Amino acid sequence: AEGPAFEAEDGVLAGGAVVATDHAGYSGTGFVGGYTDENAGAASTTFRVRLGTAGETDLTLRYANGTGSPRTLTLYDGAVRLGQLSLPATATWDDWGTVTHTATLAAGDHDLRVAYDTGDNGNANLDRLDV
Ligand code: GCU
Repeated sequence: AEGPAFEAEDGVLAGGAVVATDHAGYSGTGFVGGYTDENAGAASTTFRVRLGTAGETDLTLRYANGTGSPRTLTLYDGAVRLGQLSLPATATWDDWGTVTHTATLAAGDHDLRVAYDTGDNGNANLDRLDV
């Protein structure tokens, strides 16, 4: 990544999202799980990110999806829905992939939230967000 990494386990967790360490290959001290179907429409992780400059910004999520099928979550900037993240399956829950969403963002503080929305099928683990 060009810029700083924001570890999911250091984020603000809600709706059943929970720090876990029961799979390998994560960065930092753990990852965030709990994006299970029982937490559909609720689970979220908020990354508090300060941007020094405005403009097009690559937001790269490192995730694991051991379900064997494509999964989705939704990315927000505060109240603004940035879009749905498509998360192809990774080989196992110990293998991690990345997905990049490019957004035009103002300088200053942002609450970037990865949510299991009602329109998503969830069931992925989050390692970190590279900005
Ligand atoms: C499995 C996996 C968890 C994951 C969960 C899910 O239980 O071990 O790490 O969070 O599936 O479906 O999201």
